[in-house]
Amino acid sequence: MAQIINGKEVAQKVRSEIAAEVENMKAKGIVPGLAVVIVGEDPASKVYVRNKKLACAEVGIYSEEYALPEKTSEEELLALIDRLNEKKEIHGILVQAPLPDGFDFKKVTERISPFKDVDAFHPYNVGKIMIGDFDFLPCTPAGVMELLKHYDISVEGKKCVVLGRSNIVGKPQAMLLLKENGTVTICHSRTKDLASITANADILVVAIGRGEFVKADMVKEGAVVIDVGMNRNKEGKLVGDVAFSEVSEKAAYITPVPGGVGPMTITMLLKNTLKAASLFGND
Ligand code: GUN
Repeated sequence: MAQIINGKEVAQKVRSEIAAEVENMKAKGIVPGLAVVIVGEDPASKVYVRNKKLACAEVGIYSEEYALPEKTSEEELLALIDRLNEKKEIHGILVQAPLPDGFDFKKVTERISPFKDVDAFHPYNVGKIMIGDFDFLPCTPAGVMELLKHYDISVEGKKCVVLGRSNIVGKPQAMLLLKENGTVTICHSRTKDLASITANADILVVAIGRGEFVKADMVKEGAVVIDVGMNRNKEGKLVGDVAFSEVSEKAAYITPVPGGVGPMTITMLLKNTLKAASLFGND
């Protein structure tokens, strides 16, 4: 039976460290500040944004929310980003995805100053991640690395398989595992013989966006299984991309959904905001 990786507990520990650092910064006269921008009424996005604001308050980070109506034009959103780029009290800017139809998320992302890009989505920061010289880490992959570190799971020399190739999770996750000297394979929906590759993984990170997709026969005995997925099953229950009950019989470590990677993602956003304030807060 696998050891359950408790993301809630690790997130709490990291958040108390962040709170202490925020206090240190405030003593130096800098209050880290995050602006969260949401356009439209997507219910899941509204929950995420509320949780981000609550998390900021919990660690003493100042936050501003900009909730724009669905019919906002792209020019208006870009103009808001320009103002936030200039605003002294704001060190981090996050535009919640997905944006309503008609918005070009790439264009919006590229308008955010790379020095306030706490999502690490701007090509400047993506490039820095690629060369292993980063200021901001993408929140979800960084949260995964923090969990591995906390449970003393070494990546060096291990066969790491990332299932999913998104810009937000799969690709940066592969880079972070590579930086820690893992031997990394990226698989995706078109990969042939997927199970034979995942069944070889010492560390398997799953971010494919399909509920309970990874079954026990796709996992090696004693593997570390990290589940980034968040899906609703037919009964409306929240499930990950991994069939938790059968895979937990076989793995050595596994993250639950909820309570695994999820709480770490927002924690890493707080860490990036603190980093932005400490690196660029005096500019
Ligand atoms: N929507 C879902 N995940 C994310 C994220 O990490 N950042 C932003 N900006 N939007 C998201």
